[in-house]
Amino acid sequence: MKHRPALVSVAIVPLIMLLTTAACSRLPGVYRTEPAVAPPSEIVDFKQIYGQNCAGCHGVDGKGGAAIALANPVFLAIADDTVIRRICSDGVPGTPMPAFAQSAGGMLTDKQIDAIVRGIRSWQKPDALLDATPPTFTAQAPGDPKRGRDTYRTYCSSCHGAAGRGGNKASSIVDGSYLALVSDQLLRTVVIAGRPELGAPDWRGDVEGKAMSAQDISDVVAWLSSQRPQFPGQPYSTELVKSAQGEPR
Ligand code: HEC
Ligand code: HEC
Repeated sequence: MKHRPALVSVAIVPLIMLLTTAACSRLPGVYRTEPAVAPPSEIVDFKQIYGQNCAGCHGVDGKGGAAIALANPVFLAIADDTVIRRICSDGVPGTPMPAFAQSAGGMLTDKQIDAIVRGIRSWQKPDALLDATPPTFTAQAPGDPKRGRDTYRTYCSSCHGAAGRGGNKASSIVDGSYLALVSDQLLRTVVIAGRPELGAPDWRGDVEGKAMSAQDISDVVAWLSSQRPQFPGQPYSTELVKSAQGEPR
């Protein structure tokens, strides 16, 4: 009869555990601490992350706002995942584009950045460009601001006015206050991809039947860039700016 108590205790231990668990789970806030909403860093739903972090500037569904449309098919054709990830993670210093990666002082985890890159990529439409091959995202050759002034006259003056200070169809793009806040890359992206949502053509559409060459694009960006307000350490001299603008020295 010595084995009976042992048997009883073997049966009782799980019973006690079961009762304790049941009792505790009924105490609100003690064992039921699972939050109803996931903490911000756990959210990996693209729509939600994009809506909270990007839509305010780049527009709902990437359709464009104060900043360019990321769903623009030409933009998606020239910007690869590496470029989108880098800019989204590190931001663009000297412009309103913030750094989002935690590694760069932002709020988003690597997983969340991955979700953003995948989500933006999913906006791409394979046949959107027909057979056209757009110029590369990054300039392959340096631009010449003097040549760029002529390029500007050919391709841009019909809308932005003779000197870039605004015309009937588009506003000034040489204001110091504008140029001080945009990078050369953004100017390049806009010239290549346009802002179709605002009526700004892409690199094929400035002059009918005459697409801009890669060199034209680098040159016109160099011309715009040469008119940035002068700060110490700025790459272009005032002389060059004046001659680029076609003003007497
Ligand atoms: C406060 C406004 C603002 C917010 C918020 C913002 N952006 Fe931007 N973004 C900009 C501006 C302005 C630029 C252009 C910067 C420049 O001059 O190069 C830009 C540029 C970019 C570019 C590069 C475009 C190019 O061709 O150079 C990418 C990609 C981008 N943003 C992605 C994002 C993503 C993804 C988010 C959200 C996680 C986001 N942005 C949130 C303002 C914003
Ligand atoms: C058919 C008219 C048209 C032509 C041609 C044109 N643009 Fe524009 N552009 C626009 C419109 C419209 C906008 C947006 C509204 C505005 O700025 O008035 C714009 C906006 C821009 C912007 C500001 C984009 C931003 O979001 O910061 C830049 C930079 C620009 N254009 C550069 C150029 C350059 C350089 C050329 C020539 C290679 C050019 N554009 C040719 C109509 C045009």
